[in-house]
Amino acid sequence: MMRRLMEIYIVKVSDIGEEKLNKLCLLIDLEKKYKIKKFINKKDKIRTIIGEILIRTIIVQKLKISNKYIEFNKNQYGKPYLKDHPKFNFNISHSGEYVLCAVDNKPIGIDVEEVKHIEFEEIAKSFFTVNELDYIVNQDFNFRLNRFYEIWSLKESYIKCCGKGLSIPLKSFSIEVDQYENIKVVRNKERKTYTYVAR
Ligand SMILES: CC(C)(COP(=O)(O)OP(=O)(O)OC[C@H]1O[C@@H](n2cnc3c(N)ncnc32)[C@H](O)[C@@H]1OP(=O)(O)O)[C@@H](O)C(=O)NCCC(=O)NCCS
Repeated sequence: MMRRLMEIYIVKVSDIGEEKLNKLCLLIDLEKKYKIKKFINKKDKIRTIIGEILIRTIIVQKLKISNKYIEFNKNQYGKPYLKDHPKFNFNISHSGEYVLCAVDNKPIGIDVEEVKHIEFEEIAKSFFTVNELDYIVNQDFNFRLNRFYEIWSLKESYIKCCGKGLSIPLKSFSIEVDQYENIKVVRNKERKTYTYVAR
């Protein structure tokens, strides 16, 4: 059996001045540069560029490829991958002050969500399965919001791992967290254990 080699990198971002942003943009490809330019919100610009610089730094260090030779591609659902290196899997997520990148020798998905005090009940009813909803409401009132975000980010990382975006309906699979915090994904009555970390 192939040994799992997962690593997670976490960056806490702060403000970056325009000049530095422009300098960092010299290190990335044109497509990403245009994407960043189009963002109105500066925080979106910063999170996206930091994610890009982070994965490039990891690739330079781990695979000894010079930055200018790094080429990304996307699958039909937009999941990026490193061209010509099918065994190198990575995934990026950003929210609030954090940018995360996971690298692995197996398909990987990662998600980070800033906890905001939202009315989560209706969202959960619309997008979560009955079991996921139970997992949230069977909790003390004060902890429900955290559980909502826990399920949300686990669902998101599962979707990101599969790499098929929201073509996988959110109610077509269910996240199960047992009393020992083991996590399983139940889909078409099939139970699959995924390695979930950094919760
Ligand atoms: C695009 C999507 C993959 C993630 O969106 P997100 O949560 O807003 O963004 P994250 O910060 O977690 O991830 C963004 C990164 O994921 C990667 N990504 C993009 N498309 C992807 C895909 N289809 N699969 C996996 N990773 C993808 C990119 O590296 C992207 O980084 P970039 O924007 O800097 O280029 C997709 O799942 C989506 O649109 N989700 C909508 C949110 C939703 O309804 N979630 C329900 C959960 S219950």
